[in-house]
Amino acid sequence: MSRHTHENVVIRRGERTGLPVIVAVHSTVRGQAIGGCRVAAYPDWRDGLADALRLSAAMTAKSALAGLPHGGGKTVVALPEGLTLDDADRHELLLDVGDTIAGLDGTYATGPDVGTGPADMATIGLRTPYVFCRPDHSGDSSPHTALGVVAALEALCAHRFGEPDLGGRSFAILGLGRVGGHVARLLADAGATLVVSDVDPARHAGIGEFVTPRECLTAPVDVLVPAALGGVLTPATVAGLRCAAIAGPANNQLDAPATAGLLHDRAILWAPDIVVSAGGIVNAVSVELGGLTAAEATDRVRAIGSTLATLLRDAEAAGITPAEAARLRAEELVVPRRQ
Ligand code: PHE
Repeated sequence: MSRHTHENVVIRRGERTGLPVIVAVHSTVRGQAIGGCRVAAYPDWRDGLADALRLSAAMTAKSALAGLPHGGGKTVVALPEGLTLDDADRHELLLDVGDTIAGLDGTYATGPDVGTGPADMATIGLRTPYVFCRPDHSGDSSPHTALGVVAALEALCAHRFGEPDLGGRSFAILGLGRVGGHVARLLADAGATLVVSDVDPARHAGIGEFVTPRECLTAPVDVLVPAALGGVLTPATVAGLRCAAIAGPANNQLDAPATAGLLHDRAILWAPDIVVSAGGIVNAVSVELGGLTAAEATDRVRAIGSTLATLLRDAEAAGITPAEAARLRAEELVVPRRQ
């Protein structure tokens, strides 16, 4: 009998907007499912569904590996390509999202993701309390995600180059959105050499040398930092890489699990995105549910460095890829009750 992998998937036509609101609850085995709300264009809403299924499963592993008593979920609003939302449309859409989440009775809570921010969380919050990162709660999660990425980069450099210092290293940052922009600033402050790229040149804040996304992907640097959309590591792109290691906040960086093996074969050390990108959720949960102070929550975010260090060591000792080690560890941590 092949069992369904997700606990609950809701696809609702927004009452106000008519747009497809998709919420995938992958697992509540460790606790309430958490995952951001993505608002993005897709060729077909079914592509948005596929994204929600993949991203929500990754959130289950992300929460577990970060030691949070939570499961994984994701919201995707699949916009038809070419549609632009004015402020009023956007408000209505977020109310549609809020109603959909309200119907899940607290089994799932959302947060910001690609295409949404803290102000949007406040709008969703008009319809449901199950929303993180409202401006009057823990607020913008992107600086915290970026801090977790930097902690991960230190652990990665320590493992790969024998030295955690980032100042003497070169990085290629692919994507200068909310998180990528912060990472660029933190690395520049540390004295690192940077090559950066974004599909929108207006996002170049003067930090690092701005190049095309293609040039960024093939830049001869110590570390590539994927900070844009997923699926960037494919058999074709991996063949062209000239970096020694990869770690970044983009979710679902590998196009398929087997691509981790291709990276391994090329001796490129890949830090699993589910470990590297957990800073936002760790901070939000620690502050909003755990009652921790900002400083205590920051310590939790920095602990992503030691989590990654342990994972890389274990993977090396076992002769497996870090991706495989992360998958096995997440499997141990997410143990379903017997049916
Ligand atoms: N976009 C975040 C992630 O992928 C989701 C999130 C952030 C959820 C903060 C809750 C709080 O991890």
